[in-house]
Amino acid sequence: MHMVLGILGSGSGSNMQAILDAIDSGTLNARISIVLSDCPDALILERARKRGIETGVIDCSGFRNKFPDEAQRETAQRLLAAGVEVVCLAGFLRLVKRPLLDFFPNKILNIHPSLLPAFPGLEAWKQALDAGVTEAGCTVHFVDEGMDTGPILLQESLPILAGETADSLHARIQCIERRIYPDALRKLLRENLSAH
Ligand code: GRF
Repeated sequence: MHMVLGILGSGSGSNMQAILDAIDSGTLNARISIVLSDCPDALILERARKRGIETGVIDCSGFRNKFPDEAQRETAQRLLAAGVEVVCLAGFLRLVKRPLLDFFPNKILNIHPSLLPAFPGLEAWKQALDAGVTEAGCTVHFVDEGMDTGPILLQESLPILAGETADSLHARIQCIERRIYPDALRKLLRENLSAH
């Protein structure tokens, strides 16, 4: 089975790149058909364009954090028009809610830099350091109406080292992210196959 992916991101797109690399190496049976961003200058769009992938900018009507309903509807239409089956949030900085969720029920994934349900929200690696826990990690989960609350598809932990800084921990988490996002998509493919 082949999976058609749409990516939403606001940043550098390293997770998208990891998914693309997995596809290129033949280890992930998928295709990225469109990449959308709320930031016209985001590197993720440039990376996608270089690969000849369709891109688009989501117009959030000047709202800094909100994802207005109209923009969500338009996003859904663009994803559907591109044949997208599964939506991957990869550093997308707006909370996805209804109506977009209704267009892709249980088909929107996110990657978050903590061992959810611990430390949802911003700068989760810093939250972990501040809390003095001994383990951090990252999680790929299905998106629901909450903030980083949906069912977990895959997660991996790593020990917090002596002398760890926010930057070093973040970098180590990001290395794992780039491995587990493609892994999570493989898992989804396997589970979908066995469900049919
Ligand atoms: C990732 O590190 C992820 O944890 C968070 O946003 C970051 C996006 O990075 N959700 P990139 O754009 O994939 O490089």
